[in-house]
Amino acid sequence: QRPITVPRLVQMRADGERIAMLTCYDASFATLLDRAGVDALLIGDSLGNVLQGHQTTLPVTLDDVAYHTACVARGTRRPLIISDLPFGEVASRESAYLAATRLLRAGAAMVKIEGGAWLADTVRFLVERSIPVCAHIGLTPQSVHAFGGFKVQGRGDEAAARVVEDARALEAAGAQLLVIEAVPSPLGARITEAISIPTIGIGAGVDCSGQVLVLHDMLGIYAGRRPRFVKDFVSGAASIEAGVTAYVKAVKDRSFPGPEHTFEPA
Ligand code: KIV
Ligand code: NA
Repeated sequence: QRPITVPRLVQMRADGERIAMLTCYDASFATLLDRAGVDALLIGDSLGNVLQGHQTTLPVTLDDVAYHTACVARGTRRPLIISDLPFGEVASRESAYLAATRLLRAGAAMVKIEGGAWLADTVRFLVERSIPVCAHIGLTPQSVHAFGGFKVQGRGDEAAARVVEDARALEAAGAQLLVIEAVPSPLGARITEAISIPTIGIGAGVDCSGQVLVLHDMLGIYAGRRPRFVKDFVSGAASIEAGVTAYVKAVKDRSFPGPEHTFEPA
């Protein structure tokens, strides 16, 4: 099967085919997720939580993400591989670029960066230098201390308008994909309408162009904090692969996320 490219994701959005994404950190799961039909694999800094046992993603280093990116890349050829730029790498546009080159050398095809309109210059700098960028807005976990906890973002007219402006600014700067985390579902829909690049929701409602979950959350094996948007697809399935296949199907047929996984405006 042909590798999934960014233009292919754009085509999927145009065709109304939902994009199924999961996080992945190793070669064995990369092979399994590929076989189960997952379109994009994210080497998320959530590895700090689910692999390393930290309470936040802040301790995760560039070495950590590069290592796990190389592990995933050896396990698969088809899904698009996206790697997180860890906390602390956006001190300057130059530091962000150098970090991104390490992740692309390790096997990523795109890097994901957390932040709003203030990041537009950095995104433009990377895109001009041939680094495809996925932006990440809403509840950006690297900002947990600034937010005062893992809190739903974009509630209220003013906050919602600000998140829409963030999305517009990041698209204008050249971002080709946008992760939206933990916002009321009508806002997920409104952002998706406001921009033309594909949006990937996690706790952002069913109207995004695709969905992502942390692998260990959908496997039902993470003992830590379990946000409302998480669904365990493996308990009750015949096998891990059957559970992942059920996740892909539920994203494609829009039965996931349901109302029980989404946030209301107030
Ligand atoms: O690190 C991660 O797993 C993420 C996703 C939850 C979007 O950033
Ligand atoms: Na992340």
